[in-house]
Amino acid sequence: MSVMHIGVGMSAGLLLLGTVTGVGLCQNARQGGEVKTSPVQEKAKPRITLPPPDRTGRVTLEQALARRRSVREFAVQALSERELSQLLWAAQGITHPDGRRTAPSAGALYPLELYVATASGFYHYDPHEHRLDLHSEGDLRPALYRASSEQDCIRQAPAVFVITAVYERTEGEYGRERGPRYVHLEAGHAAQNMLLQAVTLGLGGVPVGAFHDDQVQKALSLPRDRQPVYLIPIGHPR
Ligand SMILES: Cc1cc2nc3c(=O)[nH]c(=O)nc-3n(C[C@H](O)[C@H](O)[C@H](O)COP(=O)(O)O)c2cc1C
Repeated sequence: MSVMHIGVGMSAGLLLLGTVTGVGLCQNARQGGEVKTSPVQEKAKPRITLPPPDRTGRVTLEQALARRRSVREFAVQALSERELSQLLWAAQGITHPDGRRTAPSAGALYPLELYVATASGFYHYDPHEHRLDLHSEGDLRPALYRASSEQDCIRQAPAVFVITAVYERTEGEYGRERGPRYVHLEAGHAAQNMLLQAVTLGLGGVPVGAFHDDQVQKALSLPRDRQPVYLIPIGHPR
């Protein structure tokens, strides 16, 4: 379990302050966060073959970097399959015939497994097929919200991306000391790719590290070897 919120330039003491007082955290329900949910629950599709990602775009990297800001309040509007496609590709899309991806990976071992929770279901991203496979039906965002100290951005966002890691893939090569470090660095690469891509689509999001690992694992019925590392709620800024 690691409920810890890391803000830029925070010292260890401030980290603790951030956890206790909610500094920088999404507004939580008890503080009056307004919750809007979709009135009609879409039927979950067992499999979503995503449209091919756009590899050109119209927003420069510099513009995306300059505009990126953590966004924690979202409109109800769901993300389109095109938007999901682009965000997932940015995080872990395959860009080379030998399987290498948009984000670097120590030893090209690719320990990260991506999931996304939407109103209709909880999906696993298959980067080889650029496809979403239904992991479980139903809206798991409320459970994720509870597992993340009731940060309202988690229950407001139309899509909550979950970066999980299979640590063994990297530890097998780099050991139990170095391996976890590499895995966490990689999660950062993938998350930043996704957050910058969100900016280019006119979307916003925030990386959330303050959650209870065991509760998230249970709420999402993740396989035992897939541990949650990062939650990234993304949507249309409100
Ligand atoms: C590792 C990490 C964990 C974070 N966890 C949370 C979180 O749990 N909740 C939250 O609202 N923001 C979280 N943030 C976002 C920071 O609060 C945010 O990046 C910081 O305030 C700087 O603002 P900016 O992203 O708009 O530049 C996290 C950021 C990082 C890098």
